[in-house]
Amino acid sequence: METDSQLLAIFVGLLALFVAYGFTRERANSKKSTGAPVPSGAWPLVGHLHLLRVGKYLGYDHASFALAPYGPYWRDMRKMVTVELLTSSRLEKLKHVRASEVEYSIEDLHLLCTKNEKLTAKVRLNEWFEHLTFNISIRMLAGKRFSANSSTSKSNLEAWHLREAIKKALYLSGVFVASDAIPSLEWLDVGGFVKSMKDAAKDIDTVLGKWLDEHLQKRMVGDTDGEPDFIDVMLSTLPQDHFTFRHKRDNIIKATTMVSPPPPPTPVTAASAPSGGPKKIVTTPFAKKLAKQHKVIINSLVAVVKETLRLYPPGPLAGPREAIEDCCIGGYHVPKGTRLIVNLWKLHRDSRIWSDPDEFRPERFLSENANVNFRGQNYEYIPFSSGRRMCPALTFALQVIQLALARLLQGFDLSTPMGMPVDMSEGLGIALPKVKPLEVVLAPRLPSELYHAR
Ligand code: HEM
Repeated sequence: METDSQLLAIFVGLLALFVAYGFTRERANSKKSTGAPVPSGAWPLVGHLHLLRVGKYLGYDHASFALAPYGPYWRDMRKMVTVELLTSSRLEKLKHVRASEVEYSIEDLHLLCTKNEKLTAKVRLNEWFEHLTFNISIRMLAGKRFSANSSTSKSNLEAWHLREAIKKALYLSGVFVASDAIPSLEWLDVGGFVKSMKDAAKDIDTVLGKWLDEHLQKRMVGDTDGEPDFIDVMLSTLPQDHFTFRHKRDNIIKATTMVSPPPPPTPVTAASAPSGGPKKIVTTPFAKKLAKQHKVIINSLVAVVKETLRLYPPGPLAGPREAIEDCCIGGYHVPKGTRLIVNLWKLHRDSRIWSDPDEFRPERFLSENANVNFRGQNYEYIPFSSGRRMCPALTFALQVIQLALARLLQGFDLSTPMGMPVDMSEGLGIALPKVKPLEVVLAPRLPSELYHAR
């Protein structure tokens, strides 16, 4: 049954593309001299149509600013998130959250190793990192945390449901929904994706709605002890019964809370093997040297992270841009209203710019590409994108990734089970997920008292 609907989805999708392609070719032929270039292998129209249903069903009917078009609503919401959650001073104030969560997670890994006589443990590192980043995010956003060891408590179950639903939502954000191309087909719900989106949205709303109610109740009884989390800040900033651009306050808060914790990529996952061959961070001589050094060399660590985000940018496509006036890009005339999507993944592997583009070679960022940074100023390397819509969480994401990776390498020797290569196949989803989990064997390398965080 599922296969049938998947086939139907593919069929209708292909049909839509076929019709759309005929349409764009006809237009391109009639305007050959001025038309924007069509990259070979490009799928016409799909690029800028996807995410419509995602914004509607998973983004609280477009209240999520990350999916909102450029304009006053996007500007106000982005400003609030940046100032209240992601500025350097706010991040400095909240650094105890990052530091303690990393320490708890390292302690958990050490505990796993001590359960085994050989003092080693086989761990799915992507799950470990996902858990860590999820806890950091929900503590900053809602003052909650999720413990893998006590899955029975009520608040723990809620957080677990939220995590699962967000994972599902991220996956659904990356699938092709036929009704994004032909909206009148939505009733058919080919492939069942719209239903899955509605289900995921309901699960997310149940948890976020409950957390919001708890915050409201605390305010009503005047319980304002402790560091305010982001929901507190939003409640103080947006008055009750507040509507901004047709969105209700509560929906704005939930949509903004939901969009803020996308998990950053697992640095070790992505760094583990280039698609060109099965070398791993744990086995390349460069990385071995890095791991063995008592004091982690910051420059080398940053180079590893940079190379990881070059080969596996977790946002492989930037959001769509629309030309607000006629302009010229790369010698092509781009008429006003044209939509453009930058393919960061492809840019990062352009052989005209990068030597051995598919090779995992962090050293390049210590030599020939030493001046390339994350800030969106070097257009050949923009994992966080560039310009006004670039990722507002750049500093936060790098702080978490670098701290977690440094602490992991400092605390453990890493190898793969039976020295097997890591399978780096990429699956569907907006954040370029790995198909196979990253399993790594860990062996502690420090005295055990250095792993106790609690
Ligand atoms: C290594 C980690 C991350 C990378 C590489 C990354 C990359 C990106 C990229 C490429 C975009 C699209 C920008 C565009 O359309 O031009 C983006 C947008 C965004 N990111 Fe990130 N991101 C990361 C982590 C995070 C985290 C941890 C958060 C939240 C705390 C976050 C929040 C957002 C938001 C809200 C937007 C939408 C911005 C807007 O539309 O104005 N990102 N990110």
